[in-house]
Amino acid sequence: MGDDRIRGTLISFEGLEKVGKTTQIRRLALWLRSLGHTVTVLREPGGTMLGETLRGMLLHTVQIHSAAAEFLLFAAARAELVTTVIQPALEEGQIVILDRYGDSSAAYQGFGRGLEVKWITLVNEKVTTGVEPDMTFWLRGPSFAVGDDNIESQDQGFFARVEEGYETLASQEPARWHIIPSARPADTVSRDIQAAVRETLNIG
Ligand code: TMP
Repeated sequence: MGDDRIRGTLISFEGLEKVGKTTQIRRLALWLRSLGHTVTVLREPGGTMLGETLRGMLLHTVQIHSAAAEFLLFAAARAELVTTVIQPALEEGQIVILDRYGDSSAAYQGFGRGLEVKWITLVNEKVTTGVEPDMTFWLRGPSFAVGDDNIESQDQGFFARVEEGYETLASQEPARWHIIPSARPADTVSRDIQAAVRETLNIG
């Protein structure tokens, strides 16, 4: 983490819809709490009044035609979450677990919708004030989404590009990204995640 004021730990989860992120985040949080850590779990977009409102618009109530507009709304939700929740929690020394973060914008709006990834990365750096994950888990595997919101109802080509995007992002920062095959029993997946956390962060 680039900021000396920050003492906590940030762990993000990425991957396609319904690959088990929520289950694994719940399990990781339980495990870390059982070890005595203070853990905050957040989802993107969400976690603030603005974020939850934008989530409703982005996923359900508004048909957005501009990829740039879509990205900037995700980025606005991210900015609010970092300023009001993530940064204060990290300053208290907490472990923050995020269900999606800036990498989702790079994968979905960059690789998926065709926005320039460099621009997305730059805006992400600004809105997060440089607060980057210490570890990112990519749960890689088939998506079991049923296509009932604005993003889930995209075609297969879109999700193939998103998946390739994750592949590229992970290969660019191998120290941060941990690739976890998701199509396995939840216990096995949890064990791999715990082992990586133990090894990388010296926790557990
Ligand atoms: P989910 O996290 O409940 O799956 O819903 C969030 C949806 O929003 C998911 O389809 C991925 C999408 N998304 C983006 O397209 N860009 C982003 O920056 C974020 C955070 C999410």
